[in-house]
This record gives sequence, C-alpha cells and structure tokens, in this order.
Amino acid sequence: MNVHEAIEARRAYRSLGAAEVGDDLIRDLARHAQLAPSCNNNQPWRFVFVRDPGVLTGLHEALNSGNAWMKAAPMLIAVCGRVEDDCVIKDREYLLFGLGLATAFLVLRATELGLVAHPVAGFSPAKTRAALGIPEDHKVITVIAVGRKADALNPVLSPNQIRQEAERPERLPLDRFVFLDGFGRGLPGGSAGNGAGA
Ligand SMILES: Cc1cc2nc3c(=O)[nH]c(=O)nc-3n(C[C@H](O)[C@H](O)[C@H](O)COP(=O)(O)O)c2cc1C
Repeated sequence: MNVHEAIEARRAYRSLGAAEVGDDLIRDLARHAQLAPSCNNNQPWRFVFVRDPGVLTGLHEALNSGNAWMKAAPMLIAVCGRVEDDCVIKDREYLLFGLGLATAFLVLRATELGLVAHPVAGFSPAKTRAALGIPEDHKVITVIAVGRKADALNPVLSPNQIRQEAERPERLPLDRFVFLDGFGRGLPGGSAGNGAGA
C-alpha cells in the first residue's frame, strides 16, 4: 500500500473488533509517529498506549456517550503534550500542529497494517489525565481507538454513525478550500470534483 492508497483507505470506522496489539505494533506505530516533522525538531508529542484491560476500563470512563463504540477497541492511545515543548512564535503555538502531524503519520501506518485508527475529540481530558497519570501541564488533545474493522455493525452506533460506516462523509469541494496565487482565487478551469488524480 503506497501513501495514496493509505490515504484513500483510511476511514474513521466505528465498528471495531479484536486485533493483536503486541509490543511490536506499539513500537511500529510509535516509530512512524516519531518520523513526523516538527518545528525545530521539537517532537512535542507524547503517546500513552493503553491495552491493559483494567486500564482500558478506567479510560472508558473518560469517553463521551457518543463514543461508546470505542469500548470495543483493543487499544486506545492518548495523545498529549505541553505548549512549551514546541515552538511558540508570537501568537502561534505549534503544539497542536505537531501533535496532528504525528497522529496523522501513526493513523496512516495503522491503515497500511490493515487496522483502523480513529482519533476523537469526544472525551474528558481531566478524566483521561486521571486514568493515565498524565501530568496537569500536558494538554490531552485526542484519544485514538485502534482495532480491526469488525464485519458486524457495533450495536451502540446511532443511525448517523451507521450511515457513516457505509459511506465516507462528504468533503468540501476543492473550490471551497484551494486557491491559487491569492486567497479566494480559484484554479484555472474551476476546481470541481474531489481532485483524486491517481
Ligand atoms: C479532531 C477529530 C475529532 C474527532 N472526534 C470524533 C468523535 O468524538 N467521535 C467520533 O465518532 N468521530 C470523531 N472523529 C472522526 C470524524 O468524525 C471523521 O474523521 C469524519 O467524519 C470524516 O470521516 P472519515 O475519517 O471516515 O473520512 C474525529 C476526527 C478528528 C480528526
């Protein structure tokens, strides 16, 4: 699977099932996140991989009710970091950018390995910190559910979530977010379609 194929294959599926989540997988995913670019090579990301059933149960308490589907995941990853561990250039704090890039690399690698890696915002950072002993000064930005895509739909999914299992949520057309030589200037010949070239 090349990068294009991994990007196309990645989906935020919510019907997850068992997968082998051994040390080798953790090291592999961490290695790919490690190679993400960061401002000044600060590498501000911290990942707490969680697979122990007891610790997972504690972390489940931090999930919003709409994310109950994550309880079926054999591994959850909390992604956190401190603002001061990355570039702060006037009003630009790069922590979130760095965490996002590293998370994207990890998610794409998981996809290449045939896994689902689904990051969410619907969780309590305070409860996540408490469950995992994450220090107060670390922002918890996302929790990633990792598992294998299950054949059967997870029974806790809402009708909207069931719809999204079958079909990728629609994207903005290119002309809403792609400009050439100045903000708001469209591509020559318009930019309809999704831009998929390969
Ligand atoms: C920052 C972020 C927060 C998200 N939060 C949630 C969430 O709380 N619950 C959920 O089920 N999905 C969540 N998602 C997944 C998105 O809903 C999903 O990526 C989007 O609908 C596009 O679908 P696709 O990833 O399958 O293409 C989140 C994704 C991101 C990147």
